Amino acid sequence: MSFVTSQILLYAQRSMPAIVNVNGRISDQAHAAISVFDHGFLYGEGVYETLRTYNGQPFLFDRHMRRLRTSAGMLALSVPLTDGEIDARFRDTVRAAGLGDGPDREAYIRILVTRGIGELTYDPAACPTPSVVVIVKPNVDPAPEVFERGVKVTLVSTVRNHPGSVNPLIKSNNLINNALAMQEAFRQGSFEGIMRNYRGELAECTQSNFFIVRDGVALTPPIDAGLLPGITRAFVFEVGAEADIDVREAVLKDADLFGADECFLTSTTREIVPIVQVDDRKIGSGVPGRVTQTLLNAFRAKARALSIHQPAIS
Ligand SMILES: Cc1ncc(COP(=O)(O)O)c(C=O)c1O
Repeated sequence: MSFVTSQILLYAQRSMPAIVNVNGRISDQAHAAISVFDHGFLYGEGVYETLRTYNGQPFLFDRHMRRLRTSAGMLALSVPLTDGEIDARFRDTVRAAGLGDGPDREAYIRILVTRGIGELTYDPAACPTPSVVVIVKPNVDPAPEVFERGVKVTLVSTVRNHPGSVNPLIKSNNLINNALAMQEAFRQGSFEGIMRNYRGELAECTQSNFFIVRDGVALTPPIDAGLLPGITRAFVFEVGAEADIDVREAVLKDADLFGADECFLTSTTREIVPIVQVDDRKIGSGVPGRVTQTLLNAFRAKARALSIHQPAIS
């Protein structure tokens, strides 16, 4: 199967209908609606998390909830539910979607918390009740060739938001910076776009973090390069420690990327994807490398092992 065909198939699967929970009310996607006066729609004021299940369990749920609350706090937005209430909402919605109960029935879960409905003003007091939306779809892994052959990415010209502007630490619904960067990558037929920060250092991809491998050590830009502290990124440090692979933070520049032995990106929905080409230049030998492969295998084994000991969603 060609890369293009597999991407088309992937989009077809991804476009399978979702089940949506809007403020506690579950419906199919055609009937899921939110007011145009919600400040999430009007101003992009809101935060989100993307999770996936392994063995029917929302993976690293507690870490995602912590980041959701940190993001919300940076917008002076309160999350109106406890973790237990969010967990119950996830389970209700996953069950309504008929997912979470078998090996081929893993779920993609997106939770959005927005400022809520109010007058046309930036005053948060205009919106007394935040909106909470949960979107559940079948989880669709990237095509096997993505992991076997690796992907091409583009080093984009769109600069990652300055931390003094919309801080990349916030997993915000306002994704214009990411969308513009990804448009550049799409135009080049690339899987992802790598962004630099305002200092010209490499920061992160539009929907994932990235690592290079040099002399057997996996290196990723530090949080103060201005990036989202990815939950998968942090998990790779733990997996690396167990697999005897040194994983560290380092300030990285273009030359580090182009001179790397290996390179890979990380995210909840993509796990660890080898990058074998940046723009028109091969990375390393142009095929997925040993360190990347070892981390991916160890990652998958640990993710499943951590998810197996709890009861499946019922
Ligand atoms: C900008 C950005 N960086 C990194 C990530 C990876 O984060 P995680 O590993 O928590 O999915 C994402 C995920 O959506 C993202 O949007």
